[in-house]
Amino acid sequence: MPNVKCSTGQLIHGFEKLAFALKEVTTDSFYWNERIELRLKNQIENPNTSLPETQFDLGATTTRIADAKIEITSTDLYASVVASLKEGISGLGNPVISQIICLGLGKIGECLTARYQFVVILSLSELFNTKILAYDPVFTENDKKILSTFNVTLLTDNLEGKYRVKNKETVLFYMPHCSKQLTNNLLWTNWGLDLNYCIIIANSFRKIIDSNSSKEIEVKAGYVSKILPYVLEIAIINSFKYYEIFNDIAIHVFPNINMVCQDLWKECLEPKYSEIDLEFITDSK
Ligand SMILES: C[S@@+](CC[C@H](N)C(=O)[O-])C[C@H]1O[C@@H](n2cnc3c(N)ncnc32)[C@H](O)[C@@H]1O
Repeated sequence: MPNVKCSTGQLIHGFEKLAFALKEVTTDSFYWNERIELRLKNQIENPNTSLPETQFDLGATTTRIADAKIEITSTDLYASVVASLKEGISGLGNPVISQIICLGLGKIGECLTARYQFVVILSLSELFNTKILAYDPVFTENDKKILSTFNVTLLTDNLEGKYRVKNKETVLFYMPHCSKQLTNNLLWTNWGLDLNYCIIIANSFRKIIDSNSSKEIEVKAGYVSKILPYVLEIAIINSFKYYEIFNDIAIHVFPNINMVCQDLWKECLEPKYSEIDLEFITDSK
């Protein structure tokens, strides 16, 4: 094996890929060990590359995702997501969800986590009869083909999470395990009464604030911190067999935003992040 230095995040990703590969060994007889070892080596050394065309099988991947969708919709986890989401929507007065914006899924063609996270939002899009628009700067050409197969619209620009809701239409933002900065930017962009039209499925705001230093929060999650007293955060019960795929995820809505003191909205400087962070990819154009 090469001598590769990895961050904790990369190690977790590596383990996920290993779990994915092992699952393929047990479920898909056409994969053999050498091929998996080569692929893991390739992914660890060069995480932004896609599987070569010769190794990528769109049909097999699509079937795997369809199977994962059938599996997930029969779980208590999915039932909990639906129940919590309906509770949040009801708290907002039952608006129609106009669209789903899905950020930071990761490489769904190769990553077990991304695949299961995707089938949850795919199932929700069918339940609410809403289209999905997706963006992740690491999507490979193969990922894009897979997403198109499932009628997902691919967004092309890196807005760094600054997606603004329009025309009082409610948008469901799905950003599982995305960076604090991405969530912070989304809040900043819609800072004010427009937050009423944002439903955010993301890492628990409460946990972000409780598990980071005040310096870290000030630099990367100032808007998460400011909105914390006014957010309705609804937990999901994470009983899924792979705990790490949905851990810390919660549903966030802002039903009482018009009761907030107007002063809160006055401080709204655009956040700037000086540190380079592997989990937050900026628009380098
Ligand atoms: C910690 S990973 C989470 C991946 C996956 N959802 C998971 O739970 O393992 C953060 C994800 O956010 C993506 N990301 C980083 N910057 C982004 C941006 N500007 N817009 C959308 N996604 C971004 C990364 O490429 C990565 O896939």
